[in-house]
Amino acid sequence: MGVTSSFDDPDVAAAYATWRARELAWLLGYPFLLRALEEGGGRGPVLDVGCGHGEVAVQVARRFASPVVAVDASPAMLEVARREHADPSVTYHQAEGRRLDFLDTASMGAAYSAFVLLMQPSRAALQELADEVGRVLRPGARFAVLDMDHSRSTLLARRPAAEGEQITVQVGDTEIHDYYWLPETYTEIMAKAGFADVHVEWLTWEGTADPALFSWRDRAPGPVTCSLVVLSGTRR
Ligand SMILES: C[S@@+](CC[C@H](N)C(=O)[O-])C[C@H]1O[C@@H](n2cnc3c(N)ncnc32)[C@H](O)[C@@H]1O
Repeated sequence: MGVTSSFDDPDVAAAYATWRARELAWLLGYPFLLRALEEGGGRGPVLDVGCGHGEVAVQVARRFASPVVAVDASPAMLEVARREHADPSVTYHQAEGRRLDFLDTASMGAAYSAFVLLMQPSRAALQELADEVGRVLRPGARFAVLDMDHSRSTLLARRPAAEGEQITVQVGDTEIHDYYWLPETYTEIMAKAGFADVHVEWLTWEGTADPALFSWRDRAPGPVTCSLVVLSGTRR
């Protein structure tokens, strides 16, 4: 079964690649994902599930001095990736539904996925994706995920009544559709897919902001409820 999403639209793919809010994710998102991946210690080919326009894949290839197998369901996104983030260490592949049949079982040393689980329309789809990542990872390999804890989001106009409901997110001038999942669900799904020690980290500003900025106030800001999370687990 194919995967269709807003990202199949070339206008959305182009808008996402130039979306200014992505710079924020480089402050309070991707660095935490890459740290979780690094702490996994795995080496060898790294899998990027839902690589989008390839910006993160190129950074991972350089930082880890490793080949990156970057997979996406959207031909429009892959076109942007091949054009704007071509790199000899990164190979881009079109996903076959949620399967990675072109990859052998236990052939990857690590995997990561950023803002992709939140696009899956059902629990079954989430499980299928996690199972497939589990299949292609070697035992002991790390799977790290950057995603949203929508229950902490201040951006939702309306909190959905139930998990799995579709929500709309503004990307520049266009809208994309995501789904309201909670980190507890991701944890369950990863555990069921054969990952041990699944851990959720809620990201905070600490360590990312210059303390001198807080000299304007008689105390530093209190804990911030950030809706970004990093999950990681180790393939059994
Ligand atoms: C929000 S974008 C994130 C792209 C990239 N990971 C980043 O952080 O910039 C989500 C991407 O996941 C892709 N995607 C969604 N479901 C997928 C699936 N089941 N398999 C592969 N790619 C998927 C979409 O086509 C889209 O390019």
